[in-house]
Amino acid sequence: MNRDNALELVKKYNNDESHIRHALAVEATMRYFANKYGGDADVWGVVGLLHDIDWEMTMAEPAKHCNVAPAILRENGVSEEYIRAVQAHGYGICTDVKPESMMERVLFTIDELTGLIITAGLVRPSKSLQDLELKSVKKKWKDKAFARGVNREIIEMGATMMESTIDEVIEGTIMALRPVEKEIGF
Ligand SMILES: [Fe+2]
Repeated sequence: MNRDNALELVKKYNNDESHIRHALAVEATMRYFANKYGGDADVWGVVGLLHDIDWEMTMAEPAKHCNVAPAILRENGVSEEYIRAVQAHGYGICTDVKPESMMERVLFTIDELTGLIITAGLVRPSKSLQDLELKSVKKKWKDKAFARGVNREIIEMGATMMESTIDEVIEGTIMALRPVEKEIGF
């Protein structure tokens, strides 16, 4: 599945603009980390786009999130490697598919982190990511009332799985999102 097909599929199953923007943010971050870790940026990017394909279908029943996706993806000819990654991003929340490959570990880690970083950028005087630095994200990170829906423990667990640090993951995600800020709601 190529990028155009993936984006078309995401839009077929998701109408809310914020959900499309989230898919694009996760795509850009996956591509960045693919390049950093020697993965295939096209594959990682498509997985990022598709990861929440069943989001709107399962909003009323969050336990089903990541569990309706496999059928949709198989119907559309998406390979099992991608499907496993999509399922593994819900590890410990709505699936018991443990992230194993680096692609799966990165997706698990950066999914919600993109939301925290975008929110941190939007509240800056510049309303931009271009001058958002690690230090200011770390301040927001420690403020539990800020982007309270973002589960810091999951992100920390993911960074450990990646054998990385939270600082490194935050810095990478900022760098990944800067070039696409216009597409993701800034
Ligand atoms: Fe997501």
